[in-house]
Parts: sequence; structure tokens; C-alpha cells
Amino acid sequence: MSRSSPPSSSQTGLHPRLDEVVRRHLKSRWRQPVRAHTRQAFQALIDRLKAADRLVLDSGCGTGVSTAGLAYRHPNALVVGIDQSAARLGRAPEFPDNVVLVRAELADFWRLMADAGFRPTHHYLFYPNPWPKPDHLKRRWHAHPVFPDLLALGGWLELRSNFELYVREFERALSLAGIVDAKVVSFSAGEPVSPFERKYSASGHRLWKLTVNLEAQK
Ligand SMILES: C[S@@+](CC[C@H](N)C(=O)[O-])C[C@H]1O[C@@H](n2cnc3c(N)ncnc32)[C@H](O)[C@@H]1O
Repeated sequence: MSRSSPPSSSQTGLHPRLDEVVRRHLKSRWRQPVRAHTRQAFQALIDRLKAADRLVLDSGCGTGVSTAGLAYRHPNALVVGIDQSAARLGRAPEFPDNVVLVRAELADFWRLMADAGFRPTHHYLFYPNPWPKPDHLKRRWHAHPVFPDLLALGGWLELRSNFELYVREFERALSLAGIVDAKVVSFSAGEPVSPFERKYSASGHRLWKLTVNLEAQK
């Protein structure tokens, strides 16, 4: 596997507009219509979601390698891997029966889940696209208008990234929502959970993990 460089950004600290953007999103519901393909994917899955005793989400699952690993860690849950890339999902490994992979737009899928009252016990966000350019702040999940819906899903949330600023900003956005007990650590990946973690770890990047129990906030 080729070596990669960590995200480089002209940002040296939290984005100067982070608080303003997150506060605005926390005040209002995001109304953009849900894309048809994601609605269809959600509808196709709804019976399995309803039948499951527990749900676990692997958001931005890529090829689904991490989803398969999570299914072994959560054998009594339906583990749903979601990604927008058909090419990546097409390279999924063999996985246990309690896995389902969905091609969908996350911002829409999360809203459909939250509106329908589905509440995962665990929600994993492994290496979301970092969007390191300051102009792309609103593409980072914590500064995206869907952030309140992501919080509404609840559960044990785990975010991993090789971009420390992303994780620090996520922590700040949580605190603006009144959630102050997120834990941020730098860690080394013994057995990588996903292909991107494997690549970043092999390239010597510093890895960051944020964990928070969103259930405790209700
Ligand atoms: C950097 S990769 C990480 C993949 C995997 N989690 C891993 O750790 O190996 C980010 C993934 O998020 C997916 N993604 C990014 N934005 C998305 C969106 N808005 N909706 C669905 N998937 C998205 C991409 O297609 C890509 O597979």
C-alpha cells in the first residue's frame, strides 16, 4: 500500500467561523429534500431495521471491511454500513448475516433514520473525508446542517480521524450543543479497524479518536 500524507490545512486552530455556523445549525431544522435514491434505499431496508433488536451504524463505511469487523463485535445487532460510493461498496468482503450495506447519502439517510425513530446503540464514523480547506468548513459533519440530526440519532458515537483539527472541532461543536463529556485521545491502531486506518497507520500518521455517549444527554 502506498504511503500517504496527513491532511494539510492552512487552518492553524479551530475555524474562526465554527461557533457561528454550528450555533445557526443547532437553531433550525435542515429542510433540503431527501434525494430519491437514498429514500428508496431506506425504504428497501425498513423491514430489517424494524425487525432488529439493536442497530449499529458504520457511516461512510467504504468497502465495508470495518462493517464486517463491527458485526463480529456486535453479534446481536444489525450492523448497517452506509456509503455513497458504489465502487467502494462493490469491493465489500464476505460478511456475516447481521450486516447490511447500503448505497446512500449520509446526510439524507441520517435524517430518515432520525425521523422514523430509529436509534442505533452505536454509531461509528471512521475517517470521514477531512475537508481540510477552510472554505470547506460546512462539509465537515460537525459544521454541516445535518449535525443536529446526527446528534438526534443518539447512541455511543465514535469518530476516528488522522486530522486532529476535525476531531477538536467536532468536540467543540458537541459542547455548543451542550454535550461536554466527549473524550478525545490520540491512539495507535494495533489491529486497524478499516482500510483507511490501516493506510494511515502504516504511513505513520497520528490517529485521533473521539467518543461520546449521546444517550446520556437526553
Ligand atoms: C476516507 S473514506 C473512509 C472509508 C472507511 N470508513 C475507512 O475508514 O476505510 C470516506 C468514505 O466516506 C464516504 N462518504 C463521504 N461523504 C459521504 C456522504 N455524504 N454520504 C455517504 N458516504 C460518504 C466516501 O465514499 C468514502 O468511502
